[in-house]
Amino acid sequence: MPFPTGFLTDLIDRNDIEDVVSAYVKLTKRTGANIFGLCPFHNEKTPSFSVVPDKHIFHCFGCGKGGNVINFIMEIENLSYPEAVRFLAKRAGMNMPDDKPDEQSMRRESILKLNKDAAKFFHEQLVSPGGAPARAYVDKRGISAGSIKTFGLGYAPDAWDRLVCAMRNKGRSDEELLDAGLAKRGKKGAGIYDAFRNRLIFPVIDINGSVVGFSGRLLSEGEPKYLNSPETPVFNKSRNLFAMNTAKKSKDDHIILTEGNIDVVTLHQAGFDSAVASLGTSLTPEQAKLISRYTNQVIIAFDSDPAGDAATDRAIRIFKDLDVRVRVLRPAGAKDPDEYIKKNGAGAFRKMLENSETHVEYKLFSALGKYDIKSDGGKVGFLKEASDILAELPGSVEREVYASRAAEMAGVSKAAVESEVKRRRSQKLGKAEKARERETMHPARFTWPGAGKIRYSNARSAAAEEGLIRLLCLEPALFEGLELPKPEDFSAPELRHIYSELTVRKHLGGKDMISAAGEYLSAEETGILTALMQKPEDPLNMQKALTDYAEIIKTEKEKSDGGADLRTIAAKYREKKGYGGQA
Ligand code: CTP
Ligand code: MN
Repeated sequence: MPFPTGFLTDLIDRNDIEDVVSAYVKLTKRTGANIFGLCPFHNEKTPSFSVVPDKHIFHCFGCGKGGNVINFIMEIENLSYPEAVRFLAKRAGMNMPDDKPDEQSMRRESILKLNKDAAKFFHEQLVSPGGAPARAYVDKRGISAGSIKTFGLGYAPDAWDRLVCAMRNKGRSDEELLDAGLAKRGKKGAGIYDAFRNRLIFPVIDINGSVVGFSGRLLSEGEPKYLNSPETPVFNKSRNLFAMNTAKKSKDDHIILTEGNIDVVTLHQAGFDSAVASLGTSLTPEQAKLISRYTNQVIIAFDSDPAGDAATDRAIRIFKDLDVRVRVLRPAGAKDPDEYIKKNGAGAFRKMLENSETHVEYKLFSALGKYDIKSDGGKVGFLKEASDILAELPGSVEREVYASRAAEMAGVSKAAVESEVKRRRSQKLGKAEKARERETMHPARFTWPGAGKIRYSNARSAAAEEGLIRLLCLEPALFEGLELPKPEDFSAPELRHIYSELTVRKHLGGKDMISAAGEYLSAEETGILTALMQKPEDPLNMQKALTDYAEIIKTEKEKSDGGADLRTIAAKYREKKGYGGQA
């Protein structure tokens, strides 16, 4: 529901961003136009979160989040756009333009309420006489009565429509049940039936305590072993983690990341209450960000199989970008943490936790596993790979420590490893140096794209696209009467979308244009927008920069089109030469 622009401008004016943010973040350091504090959206020790009161925006140089006061409230209070607007209107004592709650948030609320009722229903089934099959399973898996309570576990009976009937009796419509992913429509379009049947139910509860979805494990053999709620207006399995709601309260300074719901239950039961599990996907960047809001140390304890190893590698890479330290625990002699604890007890697991490998050791061991270290060829192969791993390490002490480890593993001298690492590093530095030189030769590359995490296929064009957006936000007057590049000419999808939302509101100018467009941008896109607004633009050369940017975008677009279709170029050529446009 679009809000009238005047209303939004008013709302933003009356909710001073510095005031609003200060209620959540201690803003301590003033540097130029920015005031800095510790970012509430990721874990950090030195402040990289900033508010720019003059521009009415916030931006974190660490995690890339940013936006205006509405975006801040969306993020910190976990609200939708209209909900955040309502929140701020209330704060400033303003009337909403249309005081009916909007459709989307009503729909979300009704699904959350339905989920809560469903969780209650499933739980009652588990503890009622009819729940005997599920209780037998729970016993077999060693899940305690306490855990059933803590996690609100439930039972979806082995029948077609027990939940559907129970919820209908509470006045819920079929549409609502379908919407919440709790029911499915039958083949002939006739009735609806329960999505979860014959399963042990794990409610997925978000960090605000709302039941957003469910995982269900089959009580018998069959496929799929686990079923998760589909994507709904309140649930997206790549943004949620099982048990994050309880793990976030743990006193431990780390989070343990596992693959399975049962691993989590067993771990909590054994006293490891910082365990969470991804919901059947390998860890996603969104899940990692969520974790990084609560800790800067993660212990990965995935299954000991090739899929688990691959997922571990991916997770290490994701956490590296977030400055989260990673250790890896491999439950020796067991397929997963659940089995390990059942075999060896909590004490043994704690020891393993304390001795868990740093991600560097983990990588070295993984490399070691690939080679026959007794053969000369195997030694050489391992040393090459190990040197690559070590060359990436930023600290010289770290490099030295792990050089010894790698040398031990391969049975060669430490000096041999160190000289190989040195060689790799100078190769790498050489490459970086050359890249820098190239940049200074081409002014358009001064502002290397990548504010936040944009995808781009053409760096030269993307840098110009960023520049154009920056100018449009900061100096919209420059654009008057000009014919601009079209959004279709943009190479980076996120920038294309930001630009098109801005340009259709260009007539509003500056602040109004940004806040009106903001309603249609995703959180990532808003972060990208504020990041690129922070980059400097030479005030004396804006006019020239504008034409340069526009020109670059156009020619890069033509180049890429031309590559695909030589006939267009030929046609253009003829046109220029006055041969007429017939190709
Ligand atoms: N899975 C899933 N959704 C979940 C949990 C797991 O889709 N909420 C998937 C996993 O990705 C994996 C499979 O189900 O592909 C089995 O998960 P896992 O926990 O490894 O299974 P087991 O250990 O065999 O199961 P359990 O411990 O319950 O016996
Ligand atoms: Mn498992």
